[in-house]
Amino acid sequence: MAEKEKKEKLLEIKHLKKYFKVAHKDVLKAVDDISFDIYKGETFGLVGESGCGKSTTGRTIIRLYEPTSGDVVFAGEAIGGKLSHRAKRDLTSKMQMIFQDPYASLNPRMMVKDIIAEGLNIHHLAKSPKERLQRVFDLLETVGLNREHANRYPHEFSGGQRQRIGIARALAVDPEFIIADEPISALDVSIQAQVVNLLQKLQEEQGLTYLFIAHDLSMVKHISDRVGVMYLGNMVELASSDEVYDHPLHPYTQALLSAIPVADPKVERTRERVILQGEVPSPINPPSGCRFRTRCPFAMDICAKVRPKWHEVEKGHWVACHLHDEGVSKDAASQPAEANNKIAAKK
Ligand SMILES: Nc1ncnc2c1ncn2[C@@H]1O[C@H](COP(=O)(O)OP(=O)(O)O)[C@@H](O)[C@H]1O
Ligand SMILES: [Mg+2]
Repeated sequence: MAEKEKKEKLLEIKHLKKYFKVAHKDVLKAVDDISFDIYKGETFGLVGESGCGKSTTGRTIIRLYEPTSGDVVFAGEAIGGKLSHRAKRDLTSKMQMIFQDPYASLNPRMMVKDIIAEGLNIHHLAKSPKERLQRVFDLLETVGLNREHANRYPHEFSGGQRQRIGIARALAVDPEFIIADEPISALDVSIQAQVVNLLQKLQEEQGLTYLFIAHDLSMVKHISDRVGVMYLGNMVELASSDEVYDHPLHPYTQALLSAIPVADPKVERTRERVILQGEVPSPINPPSGCRFRTRCPFAMDICAKVRPKWHEVEKGHWVACHLHDEGVSKDAASQPAEANNKIAAKK
């Protein structure tokens, strides 16, 4: 997205929560009070380890799941509350989702033309069968396939081609916003760049806005305008893509970046890393205060007691971490801040 464009909010996610009732009357807090905006025309990368709530966030925004509480505002309209069947259906003409597994997400018994035309049918977007088929042909071409593919079944395609079919299906209703949930994670590395290039081309041509979900920061680096980092149902940091990579503030973000290999072997050998200890705790019984504290090399007393406030430390750079609390000067948080500076300095 060009810097000079005025940033207009397409989505506002406000204090969104999604809890699941699980066995023994337990409650699993998959997404627990997250707030962020997505600007029109941008790619917002959402990252974090498996199980941190990325898919649940996407699915709750698009109302595959009912939010437990909080709100979602789309193009100025609140869509997080109770919605009629019809309102939900209307939503799917504006928002679409692309899934991780192109094998599981396409019905194996349907021909490609019928898979792609589903949205056209639901929203009555074609006046005649002829128009419908023409639209399918156009969509196939848009995603780099061709009309001969229309009468085939999903199993006749490679993983990359299936993801293209999934993209064509999403585009059929001419959406404004697409949630791409790890769309390239299941693909061969050689195919990943092709699918990313396609998504970028479509964004330029059609002015699409993306929520691009990935479990690893290296994957979203080049395509995201801004990046949000999740940990155990919470958003811990959000900033422009460059800022997240060059000046990560949250120890968890620093740890995720440490895990990405650096091409230069000399830098790779000498750079300071934040290595994570232990496993991600259960979202049924998350740690008190800051959820990351049990694995944080810089944890302080306050971290067990108080959930860190989500706030904007510098323009456009948000973080929830007691090392960066409002009013805490960088020198005051002495030992941890020093450690942070070392990490930044050694890059
Ligand atoms: N439908 C569901 N019912 C119960 N628990 C769920 C459901 N979907 C996801 N979860 C749980 O919510 C947490 C977040 O899952 P998910 O959003 O899929 O994470 P991610 O996409 O980041 O890997 C996990 O602990 C997962 O087991
Ligand atoms: Mg997921």
